Order: sequence, then C-alpha cells, then structure tokens
Amino acid sequence: MFINFWYPAEESEQVTRDPLKVQMLGLQFVLWRDENGTAHCISNTCTHRGGSLGDGKVVGNCVQCPYHGWQFNGEGLCERIPSLGPLDQVPERAQIDAYPVEERYGLVFVFLGDLPESERPTIMPLPEYGQDGWRALHTRYTWNCNYVRLVENQTDPSHVEYVHSGMGMGGRDQNYRVPKINIEEYPWGAGAMVQFYSPELPDQDMKDMSPEGRGEAGSGYHGICSTWTHVHFNETDRFYPVLYTVPRDELTLEIFQIAMRNCMLDDKFDKNFRERIGVAIEEDRIVVEKLDPPIPSEQEIGEFIVPADDVLMHYRRARKEWQERGWRMDLKTMRDNQNRIAYAIPSPARRERPDDWALTPVPLL
Ligand code: FES
Ligand SMILES: [Fe+2]
Repeated sequence: MFINFWYPAEESEQVTRDPLKVQMLGLQFVLWRDENGTAHCISNTCTHRGGSLGDGKVVGNCVQCPYHGWQFNGEGLCERIPSLGPLDQVPERAQIDAYPVEERYGLVFVFLGDLPESERPTIMPLPEYGQDGWRALHTRYTWNCNYVRLVENQTDPSHVEYVHSGMGMGGRDQNYRVPKINIEEYPWGAGAMVQFYSPELPDQDMKDMSPEGRGEAGSGYHGICSTWTHVHFNETDRFYPVLYTVPRDELTLEIFQIAMRNCMLDDKFDKNFRERIGVAIEEDRIVVEKLDPPIPSEQEIGEFIVPADDVLMHYRRARKEWQERGWRMDLKTMRDNQNRIAYAIPSPARRERPDDWALTPVPLL
C-alpha cells in the first residue's frame, strides 16, 4: 500500500458533526465536520496515551478524546488539555497528524501523505459530474481483495469476453482477439480504448442505442487505485462507470462507484443501468476475490503475460516508480510491530516541523 495519494474515505453525507472512525491503509482515522460544515480528517490515535478519538465527541470545532478530554482541531493542533487547566499555549508535541481533505463528486477525499500541495498526485478527474446532460449513479461495494487485483481487473480488456455474460461472447466467437492496444498516457495514469462487439443488449432501450452491439470502449487507471471505464454506444451516447477505491487493509477494498451517462437520462432508466452495472461488478468480484495469490507478486512470478495485458503492465511500472520515490509502506515491519507501535501516516505538517510528533511515522520501503 502507498502513501501520498488521495483516497475516498467516505461518502460526503456520512460525515457529520459526530466523529466517524474509518480505516484506510490498515490505520484508523477520524472524520468530522466543524461548525462551518468543513470536513476534517486526523489520525484516530490520541497523542496523549493512545485514546481512540473516533469514540469521543465533537466539541465546537474539535474532536475530544474519550479518555482525558484533550481536544484536537482540524489542523491537528491540540487546543485543550484539561489536566493542565487554562493555558496560553498547548505544547506543540501534543499535535496530531491532520490530512488535507477535499470533497468532490459526493465523496470525501483525504490525502494520506506528507507531500506539499504542488507535488501531490491529483484526484481522478470526472469533468462530466454535475454537468447538464449527464446523470450520475452512486453505488458502493466492499470486496475481499487486494487493491492491485481490482485495478488490474478494471484495466484488462480481455476478461470482458469471458467474465461478463452480457458483454462478451463467452468464447463462442472463434475469431475473437483483442486488437492491438494503443495506450494513452496522461498525468498519473494511462488507459486504452478498443472496438467492441457485444451480444444483444439486455433491453430494447439500450439495444436501440447500439443496434449491432458495436461501439468503442476502454479503461484505464489513475493514481494508485482509481479506475475509469468509457463505453461509447455510438457517436454520441456515453456511459462512464468509474471507481474510486480505498484499501481499508491489504485484503479489504472499499469501492465507490460513480456511473455517469449522457443518454437515457430519464430517472426511470436508472434501474436498467443499475442492474447492468450490478451484474457486471458482481461477475468481476466472483473472479477477482478468488485469484491466487490474493496479493500479486512484484516479480510477475507464476504469470505469463500477453499483449492484452499492456495497460496492466503500465500500471505495474507506475507502481514501481512510485515505490522508488519512497511512497510504499513497509507492511512487513509494521506487522512485526503490530500491537506494540502506534503508527501514523506522516502528514504535510511533519515536513515543516519534523521534531514535534508523538506517533511513529509508518516505515517506508
Ligand atoms: S488518551 Fe486522549 S486525552 Fe488521554
Ligand atoms: Fe470486468
């Protein structure tokens, strides 16, 4: 798992004036809204004696620890230590890691890392969101899988033929082959579009858009674990299901799906699209959760890679490069110290004040 990316912590509507404890990258965080409604995220582990802040309460703009009542604001500064009485200034070392938060597309994104703003990878853009002529459907899923397996599944054009009953021919077409993939690269990601031919679409309205089941479709990744799929039914009608995901831990993935479309806009068609996406994602889940090993090896051991895997290989190279930048967590060391060391993902403020922190930063490879 990697630090220094934006992760979708929760749906915006779930974050309220009550503290909400969430797990990301195997660590605990707390989310809440201040008096102005601005969402915040800090580490869940109190810098006093390790109280679970998410089990405390929100007082004013701060989260108050349930153990001895220390209060932390959205910048991670400790505003009150009750046992010390009224204070002009609380010690800097009492501060806790606070993470940049951005609300977009109905989700609360948290930047889990210490990079300054100018160097941060971007959130996968979804420019159609909220635009006239587009409609969004939100769904969430929890899969028992490693995030790499999900990204590799979503960027893989050749599984569609076999996994998705409504989209591929299941091998009945003996002349089937994945055309040469032309990868398009963009900041923090890459993807490719291909021509597709699919069996009859399940309902008449969809069939009308693409009478011969011919069109263009493609997919790609953005950052460490967001993916997009673009389906062009014809010249104008588009369907873009995208996934923003967060590893709750190495083998639990929370998937926030936003399915955008600019056709069949009437809400009576939501059912058709929900069903179609629901079937497809379930077909993926059944295969992906059973892949062996659950966490793919770094050296492509036990694999034989073909040209249809080009986007997936691009993603693997990107991960290597991000690892070389020192963004990859050393999970082995963390496991060795499990239950003995409280770790925190280093926040941007650690770069400015490196010495004033109570919690141990996560070890990096
Ligand atoms: S452990 Fe949080 S205030 Fe003491
Ligand atoms: Fe799939």
